[in-house]
Amino acid sequence: MTVSAANWHTLFINVNLATMTDGANSYGIIEQAALAVADGKIAWLGAMVDLPEYDEQQVQVVEGNGQWLTPGLIDCHTHLVYGGNRANEFEMRLEGKSYQEIAQAGGGIVATVNATRHASEQSLYDSALPRLQVLHQQGVTTVEIKSGYGLDTENEIKMLKVAGKLANAVPVTVKRTFLGAHALPIEFNDRPDEYIDVVCDEMLPLIAEQSLADAVDVFCEGIGFNIEQTERVFSAAKQHGLPVKVHAEQLSNLGGTELAASYQALSSDHIEFLDSKGVTAMKQAGMVAVLLPGAFYFLRETQLPPINELRQQQVPIAIATDANPGSSPINNIQLMLNMACTLFKLTPVEALAGVTCFAAKALAEDTTKGKLAIGFDADIAMWDITQPAELSYQFGVNPLTALYKLGNQAI
Ligand code: NIG
Ligand code: FE
Repeated sequence: MTVSAANWHTLFINVNLATMTDGANSYGIIEQAALAVADGKIAWLGAMVDLPEYDEQQVQVVEGNGQWLTPGLIDCHTHLVYGGNRANEFEMRLEGKSYQEIAQAGGGIVATVNATRHASEQSLYDSALPRLQVLHQQGVTTVEIKSGYGLDTENEIKMLKVAGKLANAVPVTVKRTFLGAHALPIEFNDRPDEYIDVVCDEMLPLIAEQSLADAVDVFCEGIGFNIEQTERVFSAAKQHGLPVKVHAEQLSNLGGTELAASYQALSSDHIEFLDSKGVTAMKQAGMVAVLLPGAFYFLRETQLPPINELRQQQVPIAIATDANPGSSPINNIQLMLNMACTLFKLTPVEALAGVTCFAAKALAEDTTKGKLAIGFDADIAMWDITQPAELSYQFGVNPLTALYKLGNQAI
């Protein structure tokens, strides 16, 4: 095959590649490699010995000195935009109250809703920006951000707009998810079905019309919404042509994942209490299992997600921070790689697939992101490591040395 190097603008040489083109089966390693970028896409990659001739005047050459390239990392589940914080509830939990008890007593998500409603768009933006910057500095080039702390039309839209604006400040692709059905706002106390009417008949149509969201999510749980309410939101999302996702089986098993599977959901997230029937439903629907070790850790959960069952049935597993003020105040994707291995016993290659190719799939971006492959976006992280397992082995020292977004150097 003849390769044209005519339009290459950047060329990495003397690098090792973890291409992540083989799912969680292998890192897809190419050692002593090169990778070329043209028009923001990966135009060529392979061994140095096979590197075609190129015009040294036209191409910016990056000498890798044996460093590693991976796809830019993807954090596919966050709640980065919110007002206030919940350090007081952290204290309450350590004094003996449970996450559910605090939620039932008017704290929890509803407490963040108050703070978020009172925050201006500017102050929400100002508080979310450093959270996004931190993820970016750790190699993240795509992030999903959910609404769900507004819980009325005006404030849900405010959150989604802030999430959109963040993408102008940091070179990261932001995928927005509408999570109006996150918790019951107090003004709808004892009237959850009426709140779901508002979500379906007022919020969703406006959000869809203004293209403010790429997907719709529901918290299907005892302290969230039941199966019937969840289904109403999914059905409304479908009418508006938006894909769905679900927070399900986090604290109990209500069957939210199976319901989501019947709507060809992109993913089911948390899933500590998922049973094998649910895993089968995910497999059949082509869903991604998004595991959130930060929430598991921070809530000191003990029920592990059904990892072996997911492996056996070959359900793709993604890993995300779930960054939020209540259950995972952790803006650290590198720590999630480590926790996925230590807490959930994922292998380092499974963990890396979880923040690259499979995270892309959870966001329906798997034809352009999450792999080093020809034609894919040149979202590329460069690491000063000796082997890919180092990315999940240690945390605290950031081995990222460069980050490219669509072929442009961002770090
Ligand atoms: O993903 N599970 C529901 N939602 C968030 C928690 C949000 C909060 O406690 O503020 C989660 O864990
Ligand atoms: Fe979440």
